[in-house]
Amino acid sequence: MDLILVGFMGAGKTTVSGILADDLALAQRDLDDLITDAAGQTIPEIFASRGESGFRALETQTLRAALQQPGILATGGGTPVQDANFAVLQDTDVPVVLLDATPESILTRIGGDTNRPLVQQLGPRGLSELQAQRNPRYHALADLVIATDDLTPEEIAAQIKAWL
Ligand code: S3P
Repeated sequence: MDLILVGFMGAGKTTVSGILADDLALAQRDLDDLITDAAGQTIPEIFASRGESGFRALETQTLRAALQQPGILATGGGTPVQDANFAVLQDTDVPVVLLDATPESILTRIGGDTNRPLVQQLGPRGLSELQAQRNPRYHALADLVIATDDLTPEEIAAQIKAWL
């Protein structure tokens, strides 16, 4: 892998990884897409049929395989939360960029999302609590932190490119 993006749901990881991959002529790899491809199910279907723990097992497997491939990896918001994933991400030499966003922006962006089971399960308050809980993990991994609230995905990608 050439670059890894981390951050909470709705931080813009997938969009920004697509722009950067185009700009840098690298492969875009989205962990959620790799998981749904491998499972032949959508994320809500995986959560419904295998539970969150089943999803997390697939996520860990898929992460390890993805890290062997070149390109730009957009992780899932929960990827760094599992200790095994955190350790793998911390050990890699690949630069890690955190797309940071305030709980207010996150809720505006994904509050009504039906493709993210945790949004449905937790509601706005629970989601913001989860974000606060996870933030130390994201920051511990990050070589670069970008505050995304007032930036377009193109501006975020440009900042990352300038830093690389
Ligand atoms: C999750 C984030 C999602 C997806 C799944 C669980 C999480 O990815 O992996 O719904 O636990 O934060 P995005 O961050 O791309 O939404």
